[in-house]
Amino acid sequence: MIPNSQPPAAGALTALAGDPGGLRVDGWLAALASGELEGFDVSLGTLKLKVHEWRSRPPKSAAGSDRSNFRIIVRDWPRSADSALVTVIPRIAGRVKRPLFGALERRLRLPPKSDREAVAMDFLPKAFRSLDLLVGLGRLRRDGRVLDVGCGVGRITYALTHYLSARGRYEGFDAALRWIDWNQHTISARFPNFRFRFVDVRNGVYNRRSSTNATQLQFPYDDGTFDTALVESVFQHTRVPVVRHYLDEIGRVLRPGGRCVVTSFLLRRGRRSADQRADRQNFIHPIGGAWSASSQIPEIGMAFEAAQFENWVSDAGLELVEFHRGDWHREGPGLAYQDVIVLEKPARRRR
Ligand SMILES: C[S@@+](CC[C@H](N)C(=O)[O-])C[C@H]1O[C@@H](n2cnc3c(N)ncnc32)[C@H](O)[C@@H]1O
Repeated sequence: MIPNSQPPAAGALTALAGDPGGLRVDGWLAALASGELEGFDVSLGTLKLKVHEWRSRPPKSAAGSDRSNFRIIVRDWPRSADSALVTVIPRIAGRVKRPLFGALERRLRLPPKSDREAVAMDFLPKAFRSLDLLVGLGRLRRDGRVLDVGCGVGRITYALTHYLSARGRYEGFDAALRWIDWNQHTISARFPNFRFRFVDVRNGVYNRRSSTNATQLQFPYDDGTFDTALVESVFQHTRVPVVRHYLDEIGRVLRPGGRCVVTSFLLRRGRRSADQRADRQNFIHPIGGAWSASSQIPEIGMAFEAAQFENWVSDAGLELVEFHRGDWHREGPGLAYQDVIVLEKPARRRR
């Protein structure tokens, strides 16, 4: 079974506000048990800011959460840069933790509420939490090349438009034509280095009209194109052969040393039945070597056995380098609601 990786300093920025009096950043952190919080490094775009004051409230353990809230105040900040990315790096017990991201101003029009809610109830904070994963775990750099598999209505892309430089490259594809249209008109029109493609493959929830099985899809990119790939909340809607095929394709299009961040529901050996009902997910219907929450439309919600998933990863020539248990297990704050799995394509061996 996949061991849980080093307890992460899970966290997020929840509110940002700026006026002539200063810049205020609110957020939360978990797993402070790993050491004392000593402060924060804050930047706006590439400019480092001087933190005037910060405070953090201890976690309310009685409420079953070990999150502590923090507030950071910066007095001097260049107001002209208010559409830039805000980066907050906590310093815990002398160690610099993974960055947390947010933004003050919107750079883009948001999708209609119904589309936003179809992918996440809190679209913007979740967009920046995904950026935390891509940078902190996927090692995506500002001038990196990133692939967003099943990009949906551009949730993660939204945050990435604040992060990637003009030299960076973003490619996203999805089986929902309507969302690809939206992304092309709203995002690519403004950021030409962000490209979207519709893939006409069948999905029982998102593209029921297509008769093409996704196992026949060759990702439309050359071998070794990407530094980082993301598959967020997609495998929950696909069956085993598609998961395996997509892992193979990811192994092909990543460069050696490149990383892929996946979120998925993974059931642990020995804990399977508890996991199957965790957080009322009800992954109780056996479907083609996996488990679904629905026998009628399995692609509503799929879960996989962790040990099998690990085998598929190695069959695809990838290594599973980190595993972080998701919030859905109800075992403490994680990095995301679903389990977070980090894969790496081994660097070429020297002869
Ligand atoms: C829950 S949404 C997540 C979207 C996005 N990754 C996010 O986290 O905001 C699932 C997405 O996966 C897409 N999808 C499902 N099966 C797919 C497939 N075989 N190939 C590409 N996209 C797929 C759906 O069209 C939908 O946009």
